[in-house]
Amino acid sequence: MTTAERHPLKARRVQFSFDETPLYWLRDDPFSTHMINGIHMLLPEGELWFCRVYNQALPLVTDEHLRADVEGFIRQEAVHSRAHSKAQIYLEQHGLQLDDYLGKVNWLFKTFLGEKPLGLNALDRKAFKKHWLILRVGLIATIEHFTGVLGQWAMDNTSWEETGDASMVDLFKWHLAEEVEHRTVAFDLFEHLCRTQLGFYAGRQVLMAIVFPLFVYFLVEGGRTLYRQDADPAIRKHGSSSIPRILQELERVGNATKNVPTFSFLVKATLRWVSPSFNPIDEGDTQQALDYLARSPAAQAASVH
Ligand SMILES: [Fe+2]
Ligand SMILES: [Fe+2]
Repeated sequence: MTTAERHPLKARRVQFSFDETPLYWLRDDPFSTHMINGIHMLLPEGELWFCRVYNQALPLVTDEHLRADVEGFIRQEAVHSRAHSKAQIYLEQHGLQLDDYLGKVNWLFKTFLGEKPLGLNALDRKAFKKHWLILRVGLIATIEHFTGVLGQWAMDNTSWEETGDASMVDLFKWHLAEEVEHRTVAFDLFEHLCRTQLGFYAGRQVLMAIVFPLFVYFLVEGGRTLYRQDADPAIRKHGSSSIPRILQELERVGNATKNVPTFSFLVKATLRWVSPSFNPIDEGDTQQALDYLARSPAAQAASVH
């Protein structure tokens, strides 16, 4: 990021109340509502894992601007995690069982991607520890490609304000605006910690081959977990649909309602990552995100750190 584009990343300590938020917070669109609500189950543990990994990576950062960005990133992701945890309570208050899915998410971030994945003692050795840390920094950079492009998608979206519950729309738009705001940090950190440009490029591609299917699985499974519990048989049937069938429905509903990004949108974003000249700075509009944050009710009311 150039100096002209650089601005300090601040955490806005937002508060949301979902007391008045209906279960179908996107009016007449239960498919999209459940699919997006699945994100509330995935993010809190995932974003805390980002924070844990980044706190370990901080001592390796030798550039003072990047260190400030990484610290700002950690503060923002910690607030995101808390906000979505509160939305989990909203889902439970609507009678939804989240435990099975949360169990999978916990395993992913605490066991599989934790300090000793699957209890491997080899990771006690210092060299392995450093490689494992850098690999996880790379995973975060890859995941953050999706949060960045979805962030820009949300900044361009107008259907949520027309059909959505104001509090829930603001939660997602505030969060996704900050994702656009900090979209270069994870990429820059991974590049900083890779020894060569070739290693950085090859690492990005290998990690995307892991992240894309995992991301799609957790997205679909989050939706299916909630479809399965729906009172309406027409929605409940999606709970037992295959992943390709759900992605087909996502494509159809996304095109029809504009309330969710289509699967082809995600595929196109993934293909852009393959380019050697890819840089997340080109994937979003920081001013557009800051404009949203300036009018976001929660961000306006928040204290800033
Ligand atoms: Fe986030
Ligand atoms: Fe992020």
